[in-house]
Amino acid sequence: MIRKFTFGTPFPTEAVVTPCPSESGELPYFSREGGSISCRLAPEIPVYGLGEQVRGINKRGWIYISNCSDEPHHLETRSSLYGAHNFLLLGGDAPFGIFIDYPGKITFDIGYTRGDTLTITPEDWNLDLYLIEAEDHKYTTIVRQFREMIGRSYIPPKWAFGYGQSRWGYKTEADIRQVAENHRKNKIPLDAVYLDIDYMERYKDFTVSKERFPDLPALVSDMKKEGIHLVPIIDAGVKAEEGYFVCEEGLKNGYFCKEEDGREFVGAVWPGQSYFPDMLNPKVRRWFGQKYKILLDMGIDGFWNDMNEPAIFYSPKRLNKVLDQAAAFKGQNLDLDKTNELLGLINTLANNPEDYRSFYHEPGKGRPKIRHDKVHNLYGYNMTRAAGEAFEELEPDKRILMFSRSSYIGMHRYGGIWQGDNLSWWSHLLMNVKMMPSLNMCGFLYTGADLGGFGDDTTEDLMLRWLQFGIFTPLMRNHSAMGTREQEAYRFSNMESLRQIIRLRYCLLPYLYSEYMKAALNNDMMFRPLSFDYPDDREASFVEDQLLLGEGLMLAPVCQQNARGRSVYLPENMLLITTSGPEDFRFREMKAGYHYVEAAENELIFFLRRDHILPLAPAAENVEQLDTTRLRAVAYLSRTGSYQLYDDDGTGKDYENPDHYETLTVSLDGSARRSKPEGHILTAEVFPVSED
Ligand code: GLC
Repeated sequence: MIRKFTFGTPFPTEAVVTPCPSESGELPYFSREGGSISCRLAPEIPVYGLGEQVRGINKRGWIYISNCSDEPHHLETRSSLYGAHNFLLLGGDAPFGIFIDYPGKITFDIGYTRGDTLTITPEDWNLDLYLIEAEDHKYTTIVRQFREMIGRSYIPPKWAFGYGQSRWGYKTEADIRQVAENHRKNKIPLDAVYLDIDYMERYKDFTVSKERFPDLPALVSDMKKEGIHLVPIIDAGVKAEEGYFVCEEGLKNGYFCKEEDGREFVGAVWPGQSYFPDMLNPKVRRWFGQKYKILLDMGIDGFWNDMNEPAIFYSPKRLNKVLDQAAAFKGQNLDLDKTNELLGLINTLANNPEDYRSFYHEPGKGRPKIRHDKVHNLYGYNMTRAAGEAFEELEPDKRILMFSRSSYIGMHRYGGIWQGDNLSWWSHLLMNVKMMPSLNMCGFLYTGADLGGFGDDTTEDLMLRWLQFGIFTPLMRNHSAMGTREQEAYRFSNMESLRQIIRLRYCLLPYLYSEYMKAALNNDMMFRPLSFDYPDDREASFVEDQLLLGEGLMLAPVCQQNARGRSVYLPENMLLITTSGPEDFRFREMKAGYHYVEAAENELIFFLRRDHILPLAPAAENVEQLDTTRLRAVAYLSRTGSYQLYDDDGTGKDYENPDHYETLTVSLDGSARRSKPEGHILTAEVFPVSED
């Protein structure tokens, strides 16, 4: 059951797609005091949600602020990352979900100020608040209702489930060819190479550097022959430059955000001084979205949208002010206080709240103009929506890869997200793990982190352990920052181990793709905390570093350097799978309870749940070459079991076609069959569940 309460005059975010009338009565659960609402948190009840955020799966004990931020540190003491996902689920015996559809800054104090109190404070009270309850009191039912309300999650092309290699630092066509060749030469599977800002002409959106990429269409086509897709980046800011067509068109039509006096707001990003398209205006969205055609026409079929919080390095006005004030420090003998003052001054340059308060949007449809900070969290959403709406028009029958850095709930219908500029830290691998279910709750299924870590230097073992987790995330991309240690798989002395793990991704794809598609089509979570499936197991509710993936798997990634195993909690008997690559699988039944499980550095461990089947494909060089006609099934059964496989051409949009489903059946005696007859082979290895 969903109940909606409207306060003031909310700005229509279009996060929700199913109409729901507002109630006029008292808001249950919460008391309202001043600008906040509060509710009591009973001891031990977990609080889940908030999508892309720092800290645990259980969000209790910290203060979080939805305020889309260009935040490269991801420290646990921060309160905001790139997304604003205002959905929470309060667990316990009478769980409920709460979604605050509010595009401005909003604070969630989840037992931080007072351990037993949740306090929610928006900057003003123009918002829609939704409360979601489930008759069966199941967390999964609450989330499903929420997800139905916000609409189907974005579905990428199947090739986007392959391994992608990226680095801010590939500067030329030769660099890209080299990356592709090194993968192929070393037999490391590869489906995509990403083009970071250097492919552009001086960081100008929708241009291609003639000098460094003289013939992009030819490069795209050569790469496609190798089964490799090129995925360029698009930034939110448009370089302010005479003669640059995007800038000129935008200025002529008044498409950029303006200050109070009607002059275009200027902020600096990669290209220097830039304008910001008014993505909240449907006309501007259409204009900006159509620009992707320039690259689509060159054969490109995937994009990543960046810097769309929007990130602002400085505004010229502020820069001048800061430089004037900094001049006063010249020649001074700076003591601690003075040094801090100077550094503080410099720190006010980037992403300054005053700058966000100094420009406006014209949302159209007869709505009055609105100051940016009041709708700040919608910017990245609407940039990605601009592209998504254009793709619908330009390529109605084809899936285009799209993921964004900044997002708001609603954007999940148009693209995925990557988890931004993490660091090559073991704690950020763990954060990647913890973020997956929270993002799934909020509709973001196509997601993953920069594997190996973006900033700072990675290590061979971190790269390997991160890939051992990354082979399960829908977006599997190795990305790193300029100036950091190069981290393509072929750079390391443990290349063979890395290669084998990447190959495993392709073996797992029949399962991963099926589970992704079913989660998207049924509004379910692909990644779940243990408590979602084992609600009565108190121990399970405390587990933060294991996840359920799809119907049959439990993941237990190793997130610690030099570890050769880890402690695992099993809510019930499970089949341990240990593997170092497609040719090496070992199986062992384990009883419910706590265990220490060995995992050598090159070994990945995960678990198959009882009465479930894991289909495995032969390894492949890329998704195109994946052969799903010959499957091997690992089954852990107490009786005959079945698995619903989903497969399609991976590019079309007839998602609901029943032909995409196939049933795999495995019996205890090892006999196995597939419901599609034409030459589809299934061999099974069956492990019987031993009853206690
Ligand atoms: C931002 C992005 C990062 C990208 C860089 C250069 O920091 O988050 O992924 O590599 O910009 O474009």
